[in-house]
Amino acid sequence: MPEKTAPQGVPYLSLQQEFHDLREEWFSRIESIGSGGAFILGPNVRAFEQEAAEYVGSDYAVAVANGTDALVLSLRAMDIGSGDEVITTPFTFFATAEAISIVGATPVFADIDEASFNLDPDSVAARINDRTKAILPVHIFGNPADMIALNQLAQQHGLAVIEDAAQAFGARCGEATVGGLGSSGCFSFYPTKVLGCYGDGGLITTSDERVRDRLLKLRNHGATAPFTHDELGYNSRLDEVQAALLRIKLTKLEQDIAARIQVADWYDARLAQLDLVTPVRPDLGRHAFNLYTIRHPRRDLLRAHLSAHNIGNSQCYPLGLHLQDIYKDLGYQEGDLPVVDRVCGETLSLPIFPAMTEEQVDSVCDLIAEI
Ligand SMILES: Cc1ncc(COP(=O)(O)O)c(C=O)c1O
Repeated sequence: MPEKTAPQGVPYLSLQQEFHDLREEWFSRIESIGSGGAFILGPNVRAFEQEAAEYVGSDYAVAVANGTDALVLSLRAMDIGSGDEVITTPFTFFATAEAISIVGATPVFADIDEASFNLDPDSVAARINDRTKAILPVHIFGNPADMIALNQLAQQHGLAVIEDAAQAFGARCGEATVGGLGSSGCFSFYPTKVLGCYGDGGLITTSDERVRDRLLKLRNHGATAPFTHDELGYNSRLDEVQAALLRIKLTKLEQDIAARIQVADWYDARLAQLDLVTPVRPDLGRHAFNLYTIRHPRRDLLRAHLSAHNIGNSQCYPLGLHLQDIYKDLGYQEGDLPVVDRVCGETLSLPIFPAMTEEQVDSVCDLIAEI
């Protein structure tokens, strides 16, 4: 009897093709790194910092160990800590709020816009008080937040704006690239990101020289000179092997984002007739489509159906951070942020990656149509 094979399905993310395409160039650079003998914060890191700053449109970029550190070091570099409040979104990965708590400040959660899933500037405005030091918007799923309104609020109240651009390298507000619009921009190079490496990595962009100088110090144990320390810092450095890969991938980023947008276009066209909500895109600007996240009234049923047919998916995000156990002392109740509560019950992220084919999108959409 022929062996029964599992249906092939579609992975949530597949990087094998990309690795295969890049391996020769990357491996040859790793050979040079080995021969040169500089493995951490060497010439590739310095060159990548310069190339990334140029791409984002900031004066400086400082590479760090991961995206969480990018947020923590940004907050520290702006002297935000105990007794301070930072207004952010609860519809994000935990690291956003975690970073605020790690530096001793209090995350204050605002509601989101129902269409874009990004921070609602009116909800932010209602939460500003004397303790507020910064607004921390997230460009969620690669869709740019309303930086014009948020920057205006920040300017009126003398606040810093720290962009969590972990999911949004290459996204644009109008002509401007995210990460270059606030006081600092924080990126993650976790492999699943729009610009991802094959390990951990992160970056902070800023045009404030004082912030840049403080970041350089903080990422290296608070050292002002070798063996000289006047504050506690971190061991948060990027290595040459990842920086070499990121430099190669940065040259192909526009191609990758175009491929992601093509996948999103295929999804939009096929899902338009169904009873679900497809992602909105900015009127002026560019969604980088790190994730393609739909809303469906029977999300759990749809999710089970896709999973049963080996279609990768993720429930980004099942619960607002304001309702997580770790934040129960902050006193938020269900219903305090009604849009977040509603959205968390209905969102589902579908497979998307640059090498995804039209046939794979068809397979996903055919299954969705069955529900
Ligand atoms: C919105 C957001 N912020 C921060 C992070 C943290 O980045 P990292 O995993 O590189 O620490 C992530 C990563 O998943 C993220 O999605």
